[in-house]
Amino acid sequence: MAPTSCSQGRATCSTRRAPSSTGWRPGTSTSYRREAGRSTSMACKALGDGNTVAMVIVNPGNPCGNVYTYEHLGKIAEMARKLGIFVIADEVYAHLTFGKKKFVPMGVFGSVAPVLTLGSISKRWVVPGWRLGWIVCNDPNGVFHKTKVVDSIKSYLDISSDPPTFVQGAIPQLIKNTKQEFFDKTVEVLRQTADICWEKLKGVSCITCPSRPEGSMFVMVCEYYTFC
Ligand SMILES: Cc1ncc(COP(=O)(O)O)c(C=O)c1O
Repeated sequence: MAPTSCSQGRATCSTRRAPSSTGWRPGTSTSYRREAGRSTSMACKALGDGNTVAMVIVNPGNPCGNVYTYEHLGKIAEMARKLGIFVIADEVYAHLTFGKKKFVPMGVFGSVAPVLTLGSISKRWVVPGWRLGWIVCNDPNGVFHKTKVVDSIKSYLDISSDPPTFVQGAIPQLIKNTKQEFFDKTVEVLRQTADICWEKLKGVSCITCPSRPEGSMFVMVCEYYTFC
């Protein structure tokens, strides 16, 4: 695991077959290159090897409740570009933010490094267990097509089971008819419960909360011991 921002969540390097044989190499430089943090750079470089093909980020994050800024995501994209890898952005908690930082989709950096975005109905529509999600290629340079990543993903459709029919049937209604009020209410409940956890945990000895949650449905808690 490569920390992208210490207690604020992590980026993970996966180790699968590298796409080097397919000819993809890092693209042009951007202003984010100058901004890229050195510690993140060194940590990612140390974790990656010739077989590393992707960096996974979870934003908003489970289990830290972290929300990444536009600038931070830009650094991640630039890092991926430098390493010649792509980014897998798990955004199943997209839009579920209640701090100062708004949700920024990693896909906006798809021209810096290709991004595979994972989404789901389970969190934003609060239907855990419905098991219906999507994968979006944010890849204006067509890297995923050239390297046959898209074909590879499609081939998995033949071996993994589909979501239940009634769930598939509900999707058009769900997307079309869900009112903003519903989303606002969900975020408000998450804000309130996160605040309660944050405040109450302060009073529990041996437990500390490294950062106030700003998104998703989680609070990171650490154990600590003091000896007299
Ligand atoms: C970060 C993250 N990604 C993906 C999932 C899976 O979502 P789904 O319920 O759509 O399978 C979860 C579920 O808890 C999650 O926390």
